[in-house]
Amino acid sequence: MKITVIGLGYLGATHAVAMAELGHQVIGIEPNAERLAALSAGELPFHEPGLDKALVDVIEKERIVFKASHDEESLEAEIHFLCVGTPQKQGSNEADTSYLFSALEALAPYLSENTVVAGKSTVPVGTANELKLALDKLTGFDSHLAWNPEFLREGTALEDSLRPDRIVIGVSDEASERALREVYKPITDVEDTPFLMTDIATSELVKVAANSFLATKISFINAMAEIAEVSGADTVKLAEAIGMDDRIGKQFLRNGIGFGGGCLPKDIRGFMARADQLGVGSAVSFLGEMDQINQRRRSRVVEIAKQELGDLAGKKILVLGAAFKPDSDDLRDSPAIAIANQLVMNGAEVVIHDPMALADIPAVAPKLIPMVELKEAATAAHAVVLATEWRDYKQLDPNTLPVQNKLIIDGRNALDVQKWQQAGWKLIALGRNVHK
Ligand code: UGA
Repeated sequence: MKITVIGLGYLGATHAVAMAELGHQVIGIEPNAERLAALSAGELPFHEPGLDKALVDVIEKERIVFKASHDEESLEAEIHFLCVGTPQKQGSNEADTSYLFSALEALAPYLSENTVVAGKSTVPVGTANELKLALDKLTGFDSHLAWNPEFLREGTALEDSLRPDRIVIGVSDEASERALREVYKPITDVEDTPFLMTDIATSELVKVAANSFLATKISFINAMAEIAEVSGADTVKLAEAIGMDDRIGKQFLRNGIGFGGGCLPKDIRGFMARADQLGVGSAVSFLGEMDQINQRRRSRVVEIAKQELGDLAGKKILVLGAAFKPDSDDLRDSPAIAIANQLVMNGAEVVIHDPMALADIPAVAPKLIPMVELKEAATAAHAVVLATEWRDYKQLDPNTLPVQNKLIIDGRNALDVQKWQQAGWKLIALGRNVHK
């Protein structure tokens, strides 16, 4: 099928490449000149394992082209996927859906009564209805608008797109249903992927509900960590024990410095804001508590550093990891950056290391000192904080870091405690009583 993918950020670029991999003919629309140039040259503007090779592959097979805006070729597309961002509004919990409305304005002249528009961006429930009203006005006919939430995770984005655990489609008309079944046929023909058809509101809600549940699970175990830290219990063992109950499940029970990134934090806030607008704010007010627990875990690392080092003024602290999770170079709402900035505010000199995510640090966190060489970064440090559990750090030989003081705070419960202790380090792990 011929399709367009509008907005080539994380979600859109992955979706566009995945669609081309599945055999569709894709036109990617991206107004940002730098991003457009990179993609057109076969270079991924962000780090995502496997997606770089797949991008080159589909360009070579001539299944994808990138453009700054629509042209007459868009008239031939049967489906247009909306993948633009819905970031948190400045100074508010609300999601900013304005990019979706602008994308529709640009798209409307290229639509016919048969083409389908499918939203993939994460939106507050009710947004698709508003978009449909706007679109009908722009086109002058009863347009086909469907919602098709995306569940990909950074780090495994391509795999999640090609082999999703479910495909959810919110539709209100048969033409949309037909087109979306057709577009995903290469997946559903091969894999046993559940295909869930819902009404539009449910499909919008599925995404924010799923992310809220995941955030709640992480904050739940982090709340247990707060209890464990004052009672001498071990949160890692606790998570293992409760996770063995299939009804609970072991995933997303890793305690530490909590969730960050471009999705979970903004989605729980956007959900609370929309529920308030709908007059049912109290139904999800608990998400505010989840957010608070999450923020407290970040501050906890700073508290530990102060307990151990006293006044942080003039102390050098090395933060291992800047990205919000490993296998990503995404710094959006990264717990690592938040902690590093808090340490700076307390007077510390903070050096930050990351295998992939250092380039944007000067723009995002100008007070941090990014360093590429790990040994140089560690030289004479008074403390080390593990903030992102990259494999490189898990495998690190503790004897190779030329620090002044062998203190490490494991913010992700990722390190081999014995190994570090045997090398003479004091290791403090969040939610655990492992240090001697
Ligand atoms: C999340 C969801 O997992 C995806 O299903 C969803 O499609 C995506 O948001 C989205 O809305 O686009 P992602 O933001 O890539 O995916 O990252 P996650 O793997 O969910 O991790 C989020 C944060 O939680 C990371 O900072 C991670 O370190 C943290 N985390 C995760 C924990 O602190 N503990 C855990 O047990 C798991």
